[in-house]
Amino acid sequence: MLLEKPTTLIPVCEPWLGEREEAYALECVRSGWVSSSGKFVDDFEQRWAAYCHRAYGVSVSNGTSALQAAIEALDLSPGDEVILPSLTIISCAQCIIRVGAKPVLVDCDHNTWTMNTQQVADCVTSRTRAILAVHMYGHPVDMQPILDVCEQHGIALIEDAAQAHGSECLVDDTNGSENKSWQRCGSFGTMSCFSFYANKIITTGEGGMVLTNDKTLDKRLRSIRNLCFGEDQRFRHETLGHNFRLTNLQAAVGVAQLERIEEILQRKRHIGQRYTHNLKDLTNISTQENQTWAKNVYWMNGIVINEKLGINAASFAKSLRARGIDSRPFFLGMHDQPVLINHGLFSGESYPVTTRLSQQGLYLPSGANLSDDQIDTVCQVVQELAS
Ligand SMILES: Cc1ncc(COP(=O)(O)O)c(C=O)c1O
Repeated sequence: MLLEKPTTLIPVCEPWLGEREEAYALECVRSGWVSSSGKFVDDFEQRWAAYCHRAYGVSVSNGTSALQAAIEALDLSPGDEVILPSLTIISCAQCIIRVGAKPVLVDCDHNTWTMNTQQVADCVTSRTRAILAVHMYGHPVDMQPILDVCEQHGIALIEDAAQAHGSECLVDDTNGSENKSWQRCGSFGTMSCFSFYANKIITTGEGGMVLTNDKTLDKRLRSIRNLCFGEDQRFRHETLGHNFRLTNLQAAVGVAQLERIEEILQRKRHIGQRYTHNLKDLTNISTQENQTWAKNVYWMNGIVINEKLGINAASFAKSLRARGIDSRPFFLGMHDQPVLINHGLFSGESYPVTTRLSQQGLYLPSGANLSDDQIDTVCQVVQELAS
């Protein structure tokens, strides 16, 4: 039998775990607190909420369940509308459909790849109940226009900050002064959702969280996460819920990661700035354009290949792979998803910026433990392929 030649690719992202994660996880194993009760679950919820300047944190099993729980907590009715970007993960659209509501798409901005805030304002109808704002690759959505629309129309705001732990956005001071201040992503609106999947800035392996300042929502989210057990009679259920519980073992890793978040963010910013600098003169490649109102955490470093080069992201990725570099494609737009089209959604709608980014965009190795030499190698290969 022929042995396959070992290939070592520069990986897209590996979790950065160390002795502290090991020690806390070991504590769970040794104490037997490995399920969904335990000090690390409470600690992780409180400390992540505090980090994001929120009152309450409800941990869940992943980012998809965080979005599902948040949407269910809004008690939407069939026909209610939720505005979301077309360029995002399916989790954002499916949670809306699963409660019988209608996802309403907006295209994204050509430079930041985040949702087009002008289109958000134009999409509001009398049935709009919520906006789901999704920060992209570490760069925030421009939150001020979104906050204004929500306030003007009295609609809920859910932030999906799965890709933007620690990033910040410049918004008006809430005290009514003329000043602006930096506010952390995950602190805006009615609820914010996070994923702690292994490629996220901080990870619990699989995991997620919903944050809110609303005590009633906190209680509702806790109930949804835990099968809506009865308050007086545990096994008597008034409402359907889910088992979305995070384990103490996972939360232990999360606490250790959170204690190191500044170190992780510092590495992410360094990597992002090195990519931006190295790639800035390439005319056939564009990168996400940082805005003055945004503090990017560079979760992933995306590039968009100019059509003039005559290739799309999939073939560019193939060439990168042949040169020992792994990458991932951008999302496919929600309006191009067979499962959603078969659901009777988005017929005749077009989102040209999303379509272009889906075809021409991919992201490069971006893990926090990437060395400068690896980044420079990636940039050199990108430069060769893009000339
Ligand atoms: C923006 C966004 N939201 C939600 C999710 C879903 O998170 P999870 O994979 O933990 O279910 C992801 C996953 O990458 C994501 O990128």
